[in-house]
Amino acid sequence: MDVKQELAGEIDLVTQSILLASSNHDLKALKDLLRDGSANVQDAETGFTPLHAAIAACEDDEELNDQNNMNGKVLDPEEEAAVETVKLLLQNGAIWNDLDKNNETPGCIARRLGLNTLYETMVDAGVRAELLFSKLDEYQPLEDGEDEDEDEDEQQDTQKRDGTEEPTTEPLAEKQHQSEPSIPAAHSDQKDDVTIQKIIDDVSLDNKTYLRSALTFTEDKLLDESANAVMMDWETTIMNRHAEILLPVEGLRALNVGHGMGIVDTAIQSHSPKEHHIIEAHPQVLQQMRDRGWFDKPGVVVHEGRWQDIVPQLVEQGVLFDGIYYDTFAEDYKALRELFSEHVIGLLDPVGGKDGEGGKFSFYNGLGADRQICYDVYTKVSEMDLFEAGFDTGWEDIPVPSNLQDPSNWKDIRRPYWALDKYRLPTCTFIG
Ligand SMILES: C[S@@+](CC[C@H](N)C(=O)[O-])C[C@H]1O[C@@H](n2cnc3c(N)ncnc32)[C@H](O)[C@@H]1O
Repeated sequence: MDVKQELAGEIDLVTQSILLASSNHDLKALKDLLRDGSANVQDAETGFTPLHAAIAACEDDEELNDQNNMNGKVLDPEEEAAVETVKLLLQNGAIWNDLDKNNETPGCIARRLGLNTLYETMVDAGVRAELLFSKLDEYQPLEDGEDEDEDEDEQQDTQKRDGTEEPTTEPLAEKQHQSEPSIPAAHSDQKDDVTIQKIIDDVSLDNKTYLRSALTFTEDKLLDESANAVMMDWETTIMNRHAEILLPVEGLRALNVGHGMGIVDTAIQSHSPKEHHIIEAHPQVLQQMRDRGWFDKPGVVVHEGRWQDIVPQLVEQGVLFDGIYYDTFAEDYKALRELFSEHVIGLLDPVGGKDGEGGKFSFYNGLGADRQICYDVYTKVSEMDLFEAGFDTGWEDIPVPSNLQDPSNWKDIRRPYWALDKYRLPTCTFIG
């Protein structure tokens, strides 16, 4: 046996010992092993990390699962031991959203087994990781000659509707696209080759590239050049409800960011608004809006361009709204956060809305919608960020069509972007 083989054997032994101590919930052994070993080892066959092992071990405890399923929150000593093990692993740097060979994160296993306390522990770990990544990102040093706005534009990800990437060690909301010269898009001079290739293959990875790409309109959906679904008509119930909540009475002032198939704008019109502003940046969508008479509707004002350019102008002009809705495409959570943290305060009338109760802001909540734990993590992260920005947020669950997962619904679409039973609709109002 040569040195390399010997070393590989030793590493394998350490990995197996860590996985075994995790699945036995043996805190003492695990603490010893983690002194030199890593909490992020993975079993070659199952893809289990120590977190997967600690949680999956509860599967054998039938009594525990029965109790959990019946009562929702009975903490059996075995689950308690698993929670302690999971906490120890997380304290030692275990990654919350690694995937096993079954395409499950540790939290997915906890949810499947009905282990609520373990599931919540994993959701909280995800929230902490996301908040930490976003804080770290704020402090990233700028390159020479790079200005802050450009930096924000370069970073893109976790789009809605075009499906999310698989969980990785990277934060959900941040997979940075470095820049480089030859891409046929804005910022092209700052993206590297790999990034350019990725964007050419999938235009939804970069907002400005998407806005220059060709769209396909069909009866029931709108596709981008890379076959991502920009919008689909199964969302009509959701859009109707957004409009109903934002405009509970006639004669209010609405702003919608992102026209798409015009579903939400049609719903807004049905509430007879006094003013109805629409911001849209894609030339083909704008052309279709012209063809369909949106530019001529009484009370409708169409702003052609990116919201990043239009919104500051509206704020400067002092235009106020009773209801603001945001639903764009090929933008990341950071863009949404920028809108509600920096701009909504200047656009939303604090004494607007029904009987002067205050204007309302809402957005399409599709972050992490291809996996329940990611959706739950993002619900908490966005609620915390909204609170920090001065908003109280209420959530309403809306069932999505029960046959949505039927592959026939996703024919010709690059990847399904929705895998959950319920849509969680946010309504944000100013605190106090
Ligand atoms: C998901 S669709 C909106 C669907 C719409 N809610 C509906 O009911 O049909 C997103 C729209 O936002 C537009 N968009 C994307 N990025 C934008 C930006 N930065 N500024 C303005 N509009 C943008 C897209 O061109 C697209 O028309």
